[in-house]
Amino acid sequence: MSDEGLSRRQYLTTVGGATVALSVAGCSGNGGGNSQTIVAGTAPGFPPFEMKEGGDLVGFDIDLLEAVVEQTDYSFEGWEEFEFDSLIPALTNDNIDVIAAGMTINDERDETIDFTDPYYSSDQAIVVRGDGSFSPGSLSDLSDRPIGAQKGTTGEGVVQDELIGDEITENQYNAYDSYVLAIQDLENGNVDAVMIDVPVANTFAANRPVEVAFTYETGERFGFGVRTDDDARQTALNEGLSAVQENGTYDELAQKWFGE
Ligand code: ARG
Repeated sequence: MSDEGLSRRQYLTTVGGATVALSVAGCSGNGGGNSQTIVAGTAPGFPPFEMKEGGDLVGFDIDLLEAVVEQTDYSFEGWEEFEFDSLIPALTNDNIDVIAAGMTINDERDETIDFTDPYYSSDQAIVVRGDGSFSPGSLSDLSDRPIGAQKGTTGEGVVQDELIGDEITENQYNAYDSYVLAIQDLENGNVDAVMIDVPVANTFAANRPVEVAFTYETGERFGFGVRTDDDARQTALNEGLSAVQENGTYDELAQKWFGE
């Protein structure tokens, strides 16, 4: 009796060990269980963080997230593109596992999703046409002017909190699906200023006939977004982030995309 008991325990131990080994192998191979994979979502049109170049998705966030995932046990399965204000629903609906979109960590978003440690800091910039026709130096100089920003962004939040009702009417605010469209409308004269994150403002100013009129300090910090219940990916990405900061990859990518 006791011999049978012992051999049954040994059998279970062996099978248990084999099962674990098989599932680990299955997850690390391609098409493995989705608990060990990462599908990322972004919103291109936010250079140099994410943009389309000749049909390809490129940018600092693209390189950084892929380098960070490389440091983890997760396998990277690719990118999905959304409008910025659809990213949080895409994450909470499980369409994607991580948001990498220059997304500012703030209390409102923190109620719905979680963030990794911050990986970049930014303020807002007020961008105007480069022809010198309008050169505001402060928010009050934007009085009665049509202003643009991207839907669902913190730049839109500044327009709503600081300008609408004070300096401009609701109708003078133009919300765009992408900052590329907002900058185009600025060039066309349909808006007189665009509220946008500083590094993105500098990139547009370097490549298009627009310039930064002044900056508005918000002290924002960008993080990767993860589901609130997904402690495993949050921890893995934070460890990956520290690793790329320590091994020089982060600095190389900052140099590549910002010349910093
Ligand atoms: N940092 C701003 C925010 O979190 C703007 C981000 C826009 N990102 C983008 N990929 N279009 O609201």
